[in-house]
Amino acid sequence: MTRPAADLGALGDALRRDLAHPAARSSGFAAREAYARAAPAENGKGWIVGYSPGVATIGVGLATELLMRCLAHVADHGGGDVTLWREGAVADDDRAARAAGLDVDRELLQMRVALPLVPTNDAELPPAVTLRTFVAGSDDDAWIAVNNRAFAGHAEQGDWDRTTLAARRREAWFDPSMFVLATEAGRIIGFNWLRRHPANGPDPEAGEIYAIGVDPDAQGRGLGRALAIAGLARLEARGIRRGLLYVAADNAGAIELYRSIGFAVTRTDRAYAARVVPE
Ligand SMILES: CC(C)(COP(=O)(O)OP(=O)(O)OC[C@H]1O[C@@H](n2cnc3c(N)ncnc32)[C@H](O)[C@@H]1OP(=O)(O)O)[C@@H](O)C(=O)NCCC(=O)NCCS
Repeated sequence: MTRPAADLGALGDALRRDLAHPAARSSGFAAREAYARAAPAENGKGWIVGYSPGVATIGVGLATELLMRCLAHVADHGGGDVTLWREGAVADDDRAARAAGLDVDRELLQMRVALPLVPTNDAELPPAVTLRTFVAGSDDDAWIAVNNRAFAGHAEQGDWDRTTLAARRREAWFDPSMFVLATEAGRIIGFNWLRRHPANGPDPEAGEIYAIGVDPDAQGRGLGRALAIAGLARLEARGIRRGLLYVAADNAGAIELYRSIGFAVTRTDRAYAARVVPE
């Protein structure tokens, strides 16, 4: 396997996790200062590919070539649905993806808010609902079940199992005290999983709502709003002055919730997709 020499930021979290703990069928390709990688998706559904740095640096031609090598690798290893994510995608990303045979599939909005929230943003928990933090081990299965119900059909956040959660718990940033659960009669019915991002160059420290969900049976009772606000208050109590999240551009209900709290869109990421037939 070729090891990367380049900055790996643009590969995205999933491919960086794979680089740290490579799956048997993953592969990396380096050309000049650029690096691309193809890895099986963590929930077993298809493949993810990515390249770093951005096309503005490496040019559309080289990005296309690297993508084609990734797709050839997928074809040689059984084929399947392939997803490429580009952060803050620009027209050249569209060109490189299209030239390699990938079409625009969906978009993800990055939203941010200054902390603390304005005082009008106070939310009460529905009666009989209490908050506590995640207990690694004993909460795994119940949380996975709620997550999979809330995110049924979701490409990345749906269909998790113990292995998917264990890989995320291995991440250096994982902190169970930042993983908030809502329970009712002892049952987990919602969660707000938070992630701290250290300051990076011009970007100040930020706290991300990494994954938030409410059991479909418990939605529409104000729990999502209460969980979001409680999570942001927890970040603020740790001195974090910026809230951050990513939301699918077609998730109108969640976007409405975030806007009403004060979040605004700061970047649009784009996913490209292709179905690769086996060689
Ligand atoms: C998004 C989610 C967490 C919201 O939780 P919830 O408990 O249903 O939301 P609430 O009852 O607190 O509603 C809060 C606000 O969300 C917005 N909202 C929620 N569902 C909505 C819908 N279907 N259409 C429009 N707005 C909606 C409204 O602004 C609502 O405020 P209002 O009731 O004052 O109008 C929940 O729907 C969920 O788990 N969805 C699936 C997983 C998901 O998409 N997570 C977010 C990924 S970024």
